[in-house]
Amino acid sequence: MFNFISAKKASELLKNKKVVGIPTETVYGLAADATSKKAINKIYKIKNRPKDNPLICHFFSVKQIIEWGFILNDVEKKILKKFSPGPISLKLQLPINSKLNVATAGLDSIIVRIPSNKIFREIIKTTNKPLAAPSANTSGKYSPTTAKMVWEDLGKKVDGIVDGGKCKYGLESTIIDSSNPRLIKILRPGPIGIFELKELLGSNVKVETVKTISATPGSKYKHYAPRAIVNWFSISNKLKIKPNSVLLLTNEDLIKWKTSKYFDKNIKVNSLGSISEPDKISKNIYRKFFEIDQKKFDFIYLSKIDFNSFSDKGSGKALAERISKVLSK
Ligand code: TXA
Ligand code: MG
Repeated sequence: MFNFISAKKASELLKNKKVVGIPTETVYGLAADATSKKAINKIYKIKNRPKDNPLICHFFSVKQIIEWGFILNDVEKKILKKFSPGPISLKLQLPINSKLNVATAGLDSIIVRIPSNKIFREIIKTTNKPLAAPSANTSGKYSPTTAKMVWEDLGKKVDGIVDGGKCKYGLESTIIDSSNPRLIKILRPGPIGIFELKELLGSNVKVETVKTISATPGSKYKHYAPRAIVNWFSISNKLKIKPNSVLLLTNEDLIKWKTSKYFDKNIKVNSLGSISEPDKISKNIYRKFFEIDQKKFDFIYLSKIDFNSFSDKGSGKALAERISKVLSK
């Protein structure tokens, strides 16, 4: 049964080196005291996360980041001023002798984020420590965007879960490396798009999305996958839909499907929302995967969206990247 805990209780548990599922504006996280090796080890165990995959650290404010010895360049200050608290994470040099080194899997850099979710902010403030929090899912799976999703995946393993409702964005934060203030690298696309970054930084600063596997250690691992096998849906091909499948379609494809000669009312369909609103699709997509997995479908036929048509604003490109990773090759 569900027994969610309060933010106050979560802070108490975190102070005692326990591990707690918490809401953020992006996805739910699995939080622990970022200075405690014992607590960090629990995160790896609960998630079955490879030991070489480092953790993001969450802070309450820029002030707290600086108190922990980090040095920010002008571009980093500007980015945090504009987008924090919020869904953006910065890769920073780990200060010498930092107690946060237990969260970095041996790297001399660390990714920091100042979340905007009110409940999580209260928890960080009360705990009074940076909190490491990867997404609260078993390694390889999509991230949870409701407390129920955390419960179903990890409920028996964690010390508590705080229910904060549906996440605002539904995709993980944008991760950037801005150590070179003239060339900002997007290591993982997210809700803050390349458009917003360019708009803020102007034409003297280049912003590019990095595609190399080594840029984020985690990118070499499987990600975001539902249990069901994902294939493209295409109305023009002769569809040979396997038994126990569900179509996961944009509103536009749904209309085409219903009026096409291949239409079969026995095939289950689920709507993703309109292609003209990628931010809305992003908000709901992991939850759709979860609901499909709960119903034990074996195959998903997903609308073949032309992602190049998405603008660089908001979550569009991040959505494209996530979906490209869940397709069965
Ligand atoms: O929105 C988010 O960022 C969520 C919420 C909970 O804050 N967190 C999240 O964490 O998505 P996680 O661990 O699921 O993804 C973090 C990614 C991983 O791919 C990891 O390999 C990479 O960031 N990463 C962490 N530390 C790194 C570092 N020092 N250098 C390069 N990549 C790093
Ligand atoms: Mg994750």
